[in-house]
Amino acid sequence: MPIECNVSARTWTLSGENVSYVLHRDEQDRLLHLYWGPRLPGNALHWNPADYFSFASFDLPVAVLPHELPVCGTGWYGTPTVGIRSENGDEVVDLRVVSAELRPGKPPLADLPSVYTESDEEAETLSILLQDKVTGLTVTALYSVFEYSGIITRSLFLRNDGNTTMTVTSLLSASVPFWRSDLDAVHLNGAWARERSIVRMPVGPGDLRISSARGASGHEENPFLALCEKKTDENTGCVWGASLVYSGSFQALCHVDNFGHARLSLGMNPEVFSWVLDPGETLTSPEAVLVFSDSGFNGMSHKFHKLYRERLVRGSWRDRPRPVLINNWEGTYFDFDEDRLLSIAEKAAGIGVELFVLDDGWFGKRNSDNCSLGDWEVNPEKLPGGLSGLSARLHNMGLRFGLWFEPEMVSPDSKLYRAHPDWCLHVEGRPRTEARQQLVLDLTRTEVQDYIISAVSSVISSSSLDYIKWDMNRNMTEAYSVSLPPERRKETQHRYMLGLYRILETVVSSFPDVLFESCSGGGGRFDPGMLYYMPQTWTSDDTDAVERLKVQYGTSFVYPASAMGAHVSAIPNHQTGRKVSLNMRGDVALSGNFGFELDPAKLSEEELDEAKRMISRVKRLRNLTREGTFWRLISPFETRHAAWSFVSEDRREVLLCVYQTLSVPNTAPLRVPLMGLLPDAWYETEDGRRFFGAALMYQGITMSLRGDFSSSVLLLKARSL
Ligand code: GLA
Repeated sequence: MPIECNVSARTWTLSGENVSYVLHRDEQDRLLHLYWGPRLPGNALHWNPADYFSFASFDLPVAVLPHELPVCGTGWYGTPTVGIRSENGDEVVDLRVVSAELRPGKPPLADLPSVYTESDEEAETLSILLQDKVTGLTVTALYSVFEYSGIITRSLFLRNDGNTTMTVTSLLSASVPFWRSDLDAVHLNGAWARERSIVRMPVGPGDLRISSARGASGHEENPFLALCEKKTDENTGCVWGASLVYSGSFQALCHVDNFGHARLSLGMNPEVFSWVLDPGETLTSPEAVLVFSDSGFNGMSHKFHKLYRERLVRGSWRDRPRPVLINNWEGTYFDFDEDRLLSIAEKAAGIGVELFVLDDGWFGKRNSDNCSLGDWEVNPEKLPGGLSGLSARLHNMGLRFGLWFEPEMVSPDSKLYRAHPDWCLHVEGRPRTEARQQLVLDLTRTEVQDYIISAVSSVISSSSLDYIKWDMNRNMTEAYSVSLPPERRKETQHRYMLGLYRILETVVSSFPDVLFESCSGGGGRFDPGMLYYMPQTWTSDDTDAVERLKVQYGTSFVYPASAMGAHVSAIPNHQTGRKVSLNMRGDVALSGNFGFELDPAKLSEEELDEAKRMISRVKRLRNLTREGTFWRLISPFETRHAAWSFVSEDRREVLLCVYQTLSVPNTAPLRVPLMGLLPDAWYETEDGRRFFGAALMYQGITMSLRGDFSSSVLLLKARSL
């Protein structure tokens, strides 16, 4: 049983794999957090919780009690898990446990993305009902624990069971106290074209806060925060990671109080969120995914990867090899017609590409980024045969056909905007701030959601699309819906996300065979919320292979390689001006969903041959890179090299990828210690070299990379002697 309830000790112990998480209902019915860490022995459940978790007693001031759901107004002064303003204007909340219930499996969350189970044996769920007697607010804290990984998910379900209206002012999906602060925090920070750099810093007194208020998870921060021991590295030491299954604004906090206790919290950003709950109304928080690892950051990432790859991503593409694609964006930008596209497609088909993706510029009169978003009708000047004509010709060449959309946006210069100027987010009497000459549609409104569903669906059906790139290229401003009454306007951002999720659910379930890839100016919405609907995300608009080492390495902290789009583009690179060999560009891109983003007419015959060999190698390796365990081996943030590997589940196959940025003379050859192999097996490379598993792991393999921007990819297979 993953969840044990001990009636006399008043504890619930959630255990899976090597992890336990313990809650306690004290004599006053407050819900306390006792423990989150390595799995506890079964008989520990019979001990007195105060002794067992080395608390002197629970007779502590409210301010320092290890609350599981801290609330404000009766002695706690931190960030509340649930903040409520009552109709009287006070913000006092006092939550006490009323009852608890266990059930097998894991229920879905209403209207929100969440991880799931495929059978009830995979997880067990504890729901604890708490109540604030005075206002009548009830909060159900939902905990599911996954048996195979010890991963814990948590979300809160609020209901106004009172007679008066209340306003939710704060909502955290998780808030976990630690009885220590000798810890570091790790988060993923960035900007457009250099997303998700790994930042590690000591936690100290006060607040460490990362957040987005942009109406998207954002390029700048990812909805993820981890705490780790000082000694933790990629393969050793403890890490406690928290990730939010949500695509909108969020906050993550590590507060260290004056007694040296840290608290890790993750949830809605109160700067841009509040919610009115009338009597009888409900609100569900997004889901937090809590991962504990005692085998360093790789251990944490392995758990996130497996869960997100197998129990967050859904649909027919979840377990299928993803097609090798060519996208015309960097090849042509807006400057194309049918002939140019077909000549790209023909060359691409000739070297083994499987999917042709037509990017921005196919609709309305869009010849630059200043118009036509919202008018999802083909531009007949560019494509006289229409999308269906192009689709038929591509399908005849044996290619699949994919298309770019940016459905959440409207250009002021568009038929849609002229017909419905009030359909965008705006505030009456204020100018509408444009970014990339576009405005954000008001997805809180059902008629706008329905317009998007119908516009996108009709193009998918009439053009027999096989793939959609769903882009979103600006953040929100004047983020209020004119359709909401003033007291509800701060609900806009969250209502937008609920509207977006309704659109995505409707569209992806209507077209189960279409492969969807999300995008937001590259990786501006690379989050678990989007992965629930779309199995892959365009990782970054930066296609430079050297920069990609960092972007893909950082992204892998939480997200599996099967979620990352990675393309070979032209040189000099359009973002950095750097010239990197075709070999290294290919070696970097094969670590994600591989594609090209260039005009193949500009490649020489030798380069085309090399690209062809690259594609056939990708096809041989793509099951291993999609499903294999991903090990980070050498960090590009710390050295002029990078290395990672993909190891098959039976550990008998390993793909080692090694990269060098700048070359230095007169140094020892690079030694790369591998991880996760069978120590007593022999591994053989494709060119017949043999290595002992233990030697590969404890001594490493020696690689000689020559020249700036060079790389090497080795496939090793275990052999019996
Ligand atoms: C965004 C995307 C790019 C491309 C352009 C088209 O920037 O990230 O890949 O699709 O939009 O306008």
